[in-house]
Amino acid sequence: MNPLRKAVVPVAGLGTRFLPATKAQPKEMLPLVDTPVIQYVVEEAIRAGIDSIVLVTGRGKGAIENHFDVAYELEDTLRRRGKQEDLNLVRDITHLAQFAYVRQGEPLGLGHAVLCARHAVGNEPFALLLGDDVFDERDSALDALIAAYHATGKSVVGVQEVPLEHVSRYGIVSAPQDGSDAWDVTAIVEKPKPADAPSRWAVVGRYVLEPRIFEHLAALEPGVGGEYQLTDALAILAREGRLVAAPIPAKRFDTGNKLDYLKANVEFALKRDDLRADFGAYLKALAQDL
Ligand code: UTP
Repeated sequence: MNPLRKAVVPVAGLGTRFLPATKAQPKEMLPLVDTPVIQYVVEEAIRAGIDSIVLVTGRGKGAIENHFDVAYELEDTLRRRGKQEDLNLVRDITHLAQFAYVRQGEPLGLGHAVLCARHAVGNEPFALLLGDDVFDERDSALDALIAAYHATGKSVVGVQEVPLEHVSRYGIVSAPQDGSDAWDVTAIVEKPKPADAPSRWAVVGRYVLEPRIFEHLAALEPGVGGEYQLTDALAILAREGRLVAAPIPAKRFDTGNKLDYLKANVEFALKRDDLRADFGAYLKALAQDL
């Protein structure tokens, strides 16, 4: 089996749920405490053994490229002022991985965004991480999928159980749990109504995909919402018996959603040694007045 070296991270969406903040800046650059969301996602991939990151960007996403690039003037100023710690912080980001960028001319959907990465990925399996989904125990999220990929040799979707009233926000799998960590997916549907959902197991922003997915994506017609849906290509893999679901044992934040974004900031701040005591005391005092 081919080793997994590459990850695709699509960041070309418009982020309309986060307007006006996303009018002139990418939602993936919004910070959790002091680090942009996209950096947490990239670091998760690197910790899982990935060394090459393909970002699918679009109009107005230049700040993401700059974030992972050398910032010459800033570095020079920090060096002259003797701010070694800040300098290291800024420079370390550049050395996280090898970065490549491909452009999605129009945000025609997640399936289309992934297809844009075809030539950068080539004929090898790859991880796919959505640029706005963050997990709190970040080590274990992608790791669970990679383990399922190595156990089965099939494409993998990361899943979590969601409340029935939320199934219409996700791709939902029909996957009988069999006690293992990789359940055979027999069907997958995009944004079903609660009454039509085959289960409450939702696909949540992490995938390991075989390169054959590109052939299915290239043959797609627009699906739900007029977009090219990754779910429709995954449904073909499911019919071919080449798709499994791996449950992700970590808390997830969809940072493109305002409530989840706020929760993520609070929880990430409380994990920080430099903030936990003061911020925790502040929250306790605030909660008494609610
Ligand atoms: P979302 O649906 O969460 O992103 O896509 P969005 O379209 O930017 O969000 P809203 O609904 O308008 O607020 C999940 C991921 O797929 C990327 C997004 O950038 C996000 O990281 N995406 C989505 C693309 O790269 N291209 C697309 O055409 C659509």
